Amino acid sequence: MDVKNTGINSVTNADIVLTGDRPSGCLHLGHYVGSLQNRVFLQDKCKCFLLIADVQALSANFDHPEQVKQNVVEVCKDYLSVGIDPNKTTIFIQSMIPELTELTVYAMNLISVARLERNPTVKVELQTKSFADNITSGFLNHPVSQMADITAFKATAVPVGEDQLPLLEVSNEIVRRFNNIYKTDVLKECRGILSNVTRLVGIDGKAKASKSLGNAIMLCEEPSSLKEKIFSMYTDPKHIKVSDPGCVKGNVVFTYLDAFWNDEEEIEELKTQYEKGGVGDIALKSMLHKCLSNILEPIREKRSRISEKYVYEVLLDGTESARKVASETLRQVKDALGLTYP
Ligand code: TRP
Repeated sequence: MDVKNTGINSVTNADIVLTGDRPSGCLHLGHYVGSLQNRVFLQDKCKCFLLIADVQALSANFDHPEQVKQNVVEVCKDYLSVGIDPNKTTIFIQSMIPELTELTVYAMNLISVARLERNPTVKVELQTKSFADNITSGFLNHPVSQMADITAFKATAVPVGEDQLPLLEVSNEIVRRFNNIYKTDVLKECRGILSNVTRLVGIDGKAKASKSLGNAIMLCEEPSSLKEKIFSMYTDPKHIKVSDPGCVKGNVVFTYLDAFWNDEEEIEELKTQYEKGGVGDIALKSMLHKCLSNILEPIREKRSRISEKYVYEVLLDGTESARKVASETLRQVKDALGLTYP
């Protein structure tokens, strides 16, 4: 492993941060604890770029692109409603910056198909996708397009989940080859920034929270379904009477309290009591319900005041300034390649 991985506190004002999401649906609490809160924190520390990867999302939605477009708006609304500030973070649309596609093409010569197929992140994603033996070249190329996204902005710090680290390795590998072959240093290697929160499990306790599995609590969850979801959370099937001793491990309510309740000690005490017996699931769930309502209510309220018109203003503004940066890098890249014509 040659990608250096450091925590969020290693980011300084000399860094350039780039993160992004595929617009595949509204965002949920897993995104909130895993990445959105970090982004809100980072935007006061250094230059931050936030990419909505609609081109990448197309590879799983090429037969219904209209859905991708709608999700771009929804995802941006989620960003704004949790406090990502467009005056601090440049939010932009991938497909509106053709320089990213162009850079992808130059980079494609510097990595073999076999190397892409060996990528663990790609292998895992393949299992959850429907194309089985019919991998498209667009999908296989994601790591290369991601390399273009990162290097076009000379990003030095890329916050990702642990499962995405192999993608950053591919990126750095291509950067080194490029700089080596073309005797330049225009492209910069990056390091991964790992969040200190592990992935949030779904309300069923089975898999990580995901919209497509229907086991996630969305940031725009309505109060009634919020309550329903919390009260259907997986606890301990053997904990029937309040007085029964209960199991904390694998108990989703405790996992969520660990992630969202701000008094750690209180939760630790509650866990001890729960294991002894005497704490009911209903009481626990009510506690979590109150806690999550307090977090989600202001987000939902802010979201309801954000118009589509404003979202597009933010996105077009962000894209315009991001494109300036990307096209300057592209100019340097073409210079390095010698592909400049009178
Ligand atoms: N692959 C990311 C996702 O699954 C989105 C993405 C595209 C990205 N390009 C990136 C993330 C560059 C970080 C850096 O949502």
